[in-house]
Amino acid sequence: MKKLLSIITICTLGLPLTGQDLPAGGPPPAGQPQMQQTPPVIIPLETKNTSLVFRVSNRDGRLYQAWFGPRLINTGDLANSRDAGHPAYATFGTDNLFEPAVRATHNDGNPSLELKYVSHEVENIRPDVTLTRIFLKDPEYPFVVSLFFKTFANEDVIEQWIEIRHDEKKPVTIFNYASSMLHFDAEKYWLTQFHGDWAEEMNLRESELTAGIKILDTKLGTRAHMYQTPVFMLSLNERSDENEGQVIAGTLGWSGNFRFLFEVDEKGSLRVISGINPFASEYSLLPGKVFRTPSMIFTFSDKGKGLASRNLHSWAVKYGVLDGTGPRLTLLNNWEATGFNFDEKKLSAILDDTKKLGLDVFLLDDGWFANKYPRNNDRAGLGDWQENRAKLPNGLGYLVREADAKGVKFGIWIEPEMVNPKSELYETHPDWVLKLPNRPEHYFRNQLVLDLTNPKVQEFVYNVVDGMLTSNQGIAFIKWDCNRMMTNAYSVYLKDKQSHLYIDYVNSLYGVLERLRQKYPHLPVMLCSGGGGRVDYGALKYFTEFWASDNTDALERVYIQWGYSFFFPAVSVCNHVTSWGKQSLKFRTDVAMMGKMGYDIEVDKMTENELKFSQDAIANYSRIKDIIYSGELYRLISPYEENRAVLMYVNQAKSRAVLLGFILNARYGETLNPVKLQGLDPAKTYKVQEINVSNEGRRGPGMGFGAPGGIRTYSGDYLMKTGLNVGSASPLTSVVYEITE
Ligand code: DGJ
Repeated sequence: MKKLLSIITICTLGLPLTGQDLPAGGPPPAGQPQMQQTPPVIIPLETKNTSLVFRVSNRDGRLYQAWFGPRLINTGDLANSRDAGHPAYATFGTDNLFEPAVRATHNDGNPSLELKYVSHEVENIRPDVTLTRIFLKDPEYPFVVSLFFKTFANEDVIEQWIEIRHDEKKPVTIFNYASSMLHFDAEKYWLTQFHGDWAEEMNLRESELTAGIKILDTKLGTRAHMYQTPVFMLSLNERSDENEGQVIAGTLGWSGNFRFLFEVDEKGSLRVISGINPFASEYSLLPGKVFRTPSMIFTFSDKGKGLASRNLHSWAVKYGVLDGTGPRLTLLNNWEATGFNFDEKKLSAILDDTKKLGLDVFLLDDGWFANKYPRNNDRAGLGDWQENRAKLPNGLGYLVREADAKGVKFGIWIEPEMVNPKSELYETHPDWVLKLPNRPEHYFRNQLVLDLTNPKVQEFVYNVVDGMLTSNQGIAFIKWDCNRMMTNAYSVYLKDKQSHLYIDYVNSLYGVLERLRQKYPHLPVMLCSGGGGRVDYGALKYFTEFWASDNTDALERVYIQWGYSFFFPAVSVCNHVTSWGKQSLKFRTDVAMMGKMGYDIEVDKMTENELKFSQDAIANYSRIKDIIYSGELYRLISPYEENRAVLMYVNQAKSRAVLLGFILNARYGETLNPVKLQGLDPAKTYKVQEINVSNEGRRGPGMGFGAPGGIRTYSGDYLMKTGLNVGSASPLTSVVYEITE
């Protein structure tokens, strides 16, 4: 079917612009007759509930942000405001006194940039998705900056990116190239950030922004988000909570160095500049080439953080995560259970266990490859992607067939961007790794990063995946790992363009993923980076899910998953039941149900009771997972505020919901109030039934109605006004309620 696109060019001031095209100076002095002014150009970007409005100043021809917040009934009113607003994309070198969004040195050495509005156009991509392009140009140089805004009306989400292009005679160096610049004028600003480390991802902290600059960034290159995930929430005036307050939630779709810069000026205005981290990354842009920034994705909510998350989730499942609305496979992984220590016989037994539990796929993790330097630990073999003959004498194909015969699927782990120095790959291609001349190699997890900017390495990485999938037809799942950051980073291939490395690496990675996705558009692939070291919507376009953390202790996991839930939909967050934490199996299982549940456990060591409980829980999960995957999330009680965490998912029709409650600690005399549910229909009557009821007796008590089949009936009105008791005097207990109209 032919797609109907309507492009409307709204206004053109004409190219090229010169300094004389526009009146200079301020308003005419008092007493002089006012000249008849043409109204300024107003560019409104709108979603169902928000407006982001730009205005072109008649005074200087520049573009200003005139409004961002709740939707205005008449954006035309902004034409009458005296104040033009704040610079939409501030430059450096002329009169800007604060951090610029863009900085460039022209080919003649002029280090300043001036950008004036030229024109804009609006394209309706779908009835509810609009693309607006605003073209800005330096009046003295053939240097054009185009601002792109995709507005998703129904989700209240805006995606913004920039393209920079010039036709100067020689290359131009660009030093700053933000994806977005937003301004706020509020009494106070509260920043919520999410930081951590290996096994402690997504710690939430909220603090007030004061005068000056606060930066959240990473310089790690690969495994870029190990310490900071590229996400933030910003509350205006007051601290917001889940249901009240004005909040902006933002995230950068970039799997490399990012930077969010928050600058509060002397008047208390805040500018937020988001994009690739310009640190050590000046870029030499050839004439005629386009530099495209990654997308900044943001939403505004005036009903607290809960709505901001729901906006992002509903955007993400449709547009942000590969096959976000599609089904997902449940996994049994073997990393926690076996480490590197397995053989064909053991794996064959695990395939049986996958079936026995009722899961879809067995995912074989690290350790299956390399012969000259066998991958029996993390010190050798990485890069040599041939089956290890001692462990897998009959190859991967045999396991695929075995899986098929047992009625399950087979998936596999790879880490194709990395290499151990102790490998044949390194011996053959020592120039394929990133490492500085005249410096010793620097290892992390005994490995080095391959130089993906080199097309030969791109080809190699593509072939690792394609070769494996072609010669072992039937592989149904991939886990793509990336276990180290860049240090000592130098690319032989890039020669005198070393400052391009951080950017070119990510774009090269996307190039390989793009090619693979053309051939394998729907193969489920888990994004992993030593746990959650690379989680962003730039990568998730190519991945169906991500591994949230190597820390699978269920208590820790409540916090980690809570953190991700602010920005990423449950369908994309992989949570496995393992033996890392010492909580009851019920608690560990219920925690994994917060998102995409899987297992990484020694099934043969389970008691009969444990096996039965798990089989029942997996059957329950199959029944309710559609609510978790595509329902609306309500975070009811935060683990950061109480000794418990309670959340629920409600389907679109408000006819089915799931509530999960976790008691993290229990203090003597502590009062736990009933928890008021949200998102239900007050007029509907709901059956509330506890599921995942433990059969472990005192070792794993639930805290709900107790007996299986204990069903109660309430109106939605009652559940949302009076609430349910979610409490227990025993720490590390949990409850799951299935709520059905
Ligand atoms: C790090 C991942 O996070 C783990 O799940 C596991 O796949 C190991 N790498 C394997 O080396």
